Amino acid sequence: MRILAIETSCDETGIALMEGRKDGGSLEFTTVKAELLSQAKLHAEYGGVFPTLAKREHTKNLPVLFKPFADEQFDAVVVTHGPGLEPALWTGVEFAKKVAAERGVPVLPVNHMEGHIISSLAQRENNKSQISNVQFPVLALLISGGHTELVLMKGWFKYEMLGKTLDDAVGEAFDKVARMLGLPYPGGPEISKIASAHRGEEKQASEGLRSATGARTEQISSKKFEYPEKVGFSLPRPMISSNSCDMSFSGLKTAVLYALKDKNLSEDEKAAFAAEFEDAVAEVLCAKVRRAINESGATTFVIGGGVAANRYIREELQKMILEEFPDVEFRLPHLSITGDNAIMIGEAALAHILFGDWDPKIPRLNLDIKATGNLSLA
Ligand code: KG4
Ligand code: ZN
Repeated sequence: MRILAIETSCDETGIALMEGRKDGGSLEFTTVKAELLSQAKLHAEYGGVFPTLAKREHTKNLPVLFKPFADEQFDAVVVTHGPGLEPALWTGVEFAKKVAAERGVPVLPVNHMEGHIISSLAQRENNKSQISNVQFPVLALLISGGHTELVLMKGWFKYEMLGKTLDDAVGEAFDKVARMLGLPYPGGPEISKIASAHRGEEKQASEGLRSATGARTEQISSKKFEYPEKVGFSLPRPMISSNSCDMSFSGLKTAVLYALKDKNLSEDEKAAFAAEFEDAVAEVLCAKVRRAINESGATTFVIGGGVAANRYIREELQKMILEEFPDVEFRLPHLSITGDNAIMIGEAALAHILFGDWDPKIPRLNLDIKATGNLSLA
């Protein structure tokens, strides 16, 4: 089975040609060819994704990105139809319908969040990936610029929403806090960079402190290192003890706004502040994942979405799972697929096709697909 996958839900335009096969209960995927174009730089001056600009760019880029695929054969076109920015989604849906009509093949709609989950379950090496031995129920923590959800996958393609953010998404909070700190968009990776540099210095300083008392002041003063306590940043952990798996990040963003008001932070202070923000987010996520595993009895845990690239969040979740749930298997996504891309859309579609719950030969799935901005998994 060979499919062409298209992704345009946000600010990445992605096209991938994928092959998939089923071997017993395992799925094997090959990415024959993949193209990805990020518009992040263009949206930077708006401090976030600007939907009309995204639409214009996708419309312009899709035919260009498609050129290397023009001579390829495929059995179906699959496309993200939601959730995401509706004007952006429509460009992919319309393009997919056009290509499919020209080739006389069906179009299948894919849920973007399912793309994040399925691709995170896969093990990857170069252009090959494989999904095998999945023990259900699977708990998925989906953290991106638009979503923050804890979804339970009870079996293949059977979802239950255990909790989600009541306001801002985690990635959105990262981007907004980065902006308040004067860092460029997308802010997640920027915060992560300065926060981990800060932790590195903190670690060095405390090692210095342990090794020789005399070395302590010297090391600290020569590096101009300041302890976070001295800087005095302390942010809330919203809803951390609430009686549900729901989350909230807008209060954290407001707390950041007040903490930074009328302050002119040095680079070191900004780094300490970024680390405290990352800590606050990681602690809330760990608490909610702990609750969700206890409530659901999940045997596999997976994370997906752009923020799943965050090193500190990955490490904190990994530590918590290892210490508290040693029997739960944690599948960490390869960094090449945490951000939006067409490969994940292709993998989700192929999983449906190969497990037999979609038949690409059914014409009813053709041409009446609609972009649905608020599409939900459950
Ligand atoms: O999944 P994604 O590529 O697009 C959406 O569907 O939203 O996620 C993008 C989000 C942005 O908010 C970006 O700042 C965040 O993921 N992000 C990160 C990191 N890399 C990307 N956030 C924190 N740490 C990172 N390393
Ligand atoms: Zn996404």
